[in-house]
Amino acid sequence: MAENDKRMVTPSRRSEDAPEASIRPRSLDEMVNQERVKENLSILIQACKARGDALDHVLLYGPPGLGKTTLAHILANEMGVSIRVTSGPAVERAGDLAAILTNLQAGDVLFIDEIHRLSRPVEEILYPAMEDFALDIVLGKGPSARSVRLRLPHFTIVGATTRLALVTAPLRSRFGAVHRLDFYGQLAMEALVARAARIHDVEIDDDGRSEIACRARGTPRVAIRLLRRVRDFAEVRADGRITRAVAGEALALLEVDDLGLDDSDRRVLRTVIEKFNGGPVGLQTIAASISEEPDTIMDVVEPYLLQLGFIERTSQGRLATARAYEHLGFEPPPNLQSRLPEL
Ligand SMILES: Nc1ncnc2c1ncn2[C@@H]1O[C@H](COP(=O)(O)OP(=O)(O)OP(=O)(O)O)[C@@H](O)[C@H]1O
Ligand SMILES: [Mg+2]
Repeated sequence: MAENDKRMVTPSRRSEDAPEASIRPRSLDEMVNQERVKENLSILIQACKARGDALDHVLLYGPPGLGKTTLAHILANEMGVSIRVTSGPAVERAGDLAAILTNLQAGDVLFIDEIHRLSRPVEEILYPAMEDFALDIVLGKGPSARSVRLRLPHFTIVGATTRLALVTAPLRSRFGAVHRLDFYGQLAMEALVARAARIHDVEIDDDGRSEIACRARGTPRVAIRLLRRVRDFAEVRADGRITRAVAGEALALLEVDDLGLDDSDRRVLRTVIEKFNGGPVGLQTIAASISEEPDTIMDVVEPYLLQLGFIERTSQGRLATARAYEHLGFEPPPNLQSRLPEL
């Protein structure tokens, strides 16, 4: 991940994103876009509140930086309950999870980030906890061992993952609500940049806003980060106001192109096009030839390239599309379309 952390447009958290909490929307209303998810969650909140129940368990999935953690906090906020935050890799042993669960109050939200990375023994503790609000503890060892069942308060698990496919079926089935977050469209991104500019007290005109929005890969975290860098540029090289020209110059200097692609994205595309003649080529092979982790490519590079329609995922591997050729200034080969599998 180290190499990826250096990228200006990585959707993963960088150290400079630390002030994230201060800009995080606190209610569903404040949150830009994701209307379908917001509406569903709003109904869930109102229904659970009216019944006096804890919120159903909620699983959120989608690429990094789209608002999963934000939504988890909003859910707790809207329910008026406390939130406890942990993550799959942080809960090492079953006992760690048992300790967390026994400390929850009725109604509390336990947010488990990267939930697909929970170990098997930990996951097994979670099943009865989510389903029956019970903790099964084994006392003693050998023939005299016996199991006791401890009652837990009714609480809510909010799980987040960038890899739904890696969440086991038994775990997935215990969530009452499962929602996918999508990349944001241009208008939503503009609204998001406007909101961030207001909070940061940055002067920006409509064109400046749309310039940053279209280069931010449909990802709020990237938009907020780019806005901060463009603000620096505007203060040092211009009069502090962000216009299209200022944003364009600042982003060119940061090597973010007009679609938000950076060197890593172009390297992946160029590898598929130049070394593998457009593909199909396996992800592992692409990763090896540019010395990158396959997981990094899959989680943070590929989703946006797929969204742009620059690559296709086929059973034989990744395929560069004519649009990718054109964006990089190559002539697409005539037989490109025929490589797509029949649908
Ligand atoms: N809909 C939104 N409206 C306004 N701001 C948003 C929205 N979604 C996300 N943000 C902002 O984008 C940033 C990243 O969001 P968040 O941390 O929730 O992403 P995430 O999906 O949890 O990412 P990761 O997978 O890396 O954990 C935060 O600063 C948050 O305030
Ligand atoms: Mg998060």
